[in-house]
Amino acid sequence: MNQIMQPFIKLITLLVALLGLAVALVGVVGFVLFLSYSGVQLPSLQADSNSEQVQSLPEVPAVTALVDPAGMWSSPDWATLEAEANAEDIKYGKELIANTAAYLGPNGKVKAISNGMNCQNCHLQAGTAPLGNNYSAVAATYPKVRARSGQSEDIEKRINDCFERSLNGKALERDSKEMVAMVAYMNWLGKDVPKGESPKGSGIYEVPLLDRAADPAKGKLVYDAQCASCHQADGQGMPKQDGSGYIYPPLWGKNSYNHGAGLYRLSRFAGYVKANMPLGATFENPMLSDEEAWDVAAYVNSLERPAKDLSKDWPDISKKPMDHPFGPYTDGFSEEQHKFGPFKPIKEARAQSK
Ligand code: HEC
Ligand code: HEC
Repeated sequence: MNQIMQPFIKLITLLVALLGLAVALVGVVGFVLFLSYSGVQLPSLQADSNSEQVQSLPEVPAVTALVDPAGMWSSPDWATLEAEANAEDIKYGKELIANTAAYLGPNGKVKAISNGMNCQNCHLQAGTAPLGNNYSAVAATYPKVRARSGQSEDIEKRINDCFERSLNGKALERDSKEMVAMVAYMNWLGKDVPKGESPKGSGIYEVPLLDRAADPAKGKLVYDAQCASCHQADGQGMPKQDGSGYIYPPLWGKNSYNHGAGLYRLSRFAGYVKANMPLGATFENPMLSDEEAWDVAAYVNSLERPAKDLSKDWPDISKKPMDHPFGPYTDGFSEEQHKFGPFKPIKEARAQSK
């Protein structure tokens, strides 16, 4: 009897020993991980042998931020979301902003009403990035009368403006689950902003005006050196393998925003790229000079893109922005100058006529 059992007892002892070893290993690894995440300083193996080298490194020159970061808006804490009665809508809304194409693009799983771009391509970090065209002012400033349509626009109408122009697509039904979710998300983002106020860092940076017209030829040099590596030499971007959007979105051509879109205005494009492009640039760490931003805007917006019937836009033509590139105008400046500048004379003439 005993002899029959012995191999089993040995085996069990071995297994128990192995298990003990495994538990000990997990414990040690876990403890080291805990230490490294908890910020506890482990003693350096080399003590302070290289502290002199560190001190002799040249000082990094301070980059000038476009605006003082103090008081910048930041989005509500995502961790507080579950307290909201419509948390599910808000989450779905954020998902639609970030991955629009997967739901509403040419192969969208909900319906195909847009060009394959994501809202987030232009409204960075799901519309939360400071000076990354964020949504911080939306809840507090809509509905409002917009001169482009001459009408009062609510959030739904404004979202559909971007569907029809920036995503060169069709409007979403106002009472659809998707529209309700996106509006819920924007209302949540702006919930702490007092009515009527635009927080610091909302929208797009205003690049100082140049004394000359923006130059597409100079802009092409900027584009080839600093943009083409991602957006490609032909500006068509780089689609994802599964057809659900882009790794790098297109900047011109049939899959890009149409000429009724905000980015087709030079000041919007220049301001967006100045604070956000090449990818990695921020308002605190801009990478383009003002001239480069204006010139690359001129280059990209002088190339082919989808058209849109704009005949209903700007019913009061005197309200057209200085860089609206389609006449007629009330100020006597040419379409060419309204497209590329110089904008200072237009601005001054307008100020005088008021
Ligand atoms: C090609 C770039 C682009 C894409 C893509 C885009 N937008 Fe926009 N959007 C803009 C620009 C430019 C503005 C105007 C910003 C300004 O003038 O300050 C804007 C403005 C808005 C505003 C108004 C913000 C405010 O504070 O007044 C909302 C809301 C909005 N977009 C929603 C969306 C939604 C939703 C989507 C996706 C369905 C989308 N946008 C996709 C470029 C884009
Ligand atoms: C390292 C890659 C990279 C480089 C270089 C780069 N971009 Fe982008 N760009 C992106 C990505 C990625 C997005 C979309 C961001 C997102 O969805 O979060 C984008 C978005 C954009 C958009 C808005 C979306 C669209 O397609 O209209 C514009 C405009 C743009 N970039 C212009 C430029 C310009 C101009 C340059 C050169 C000065 C540049 N980018 C350089 C990666 C890059």
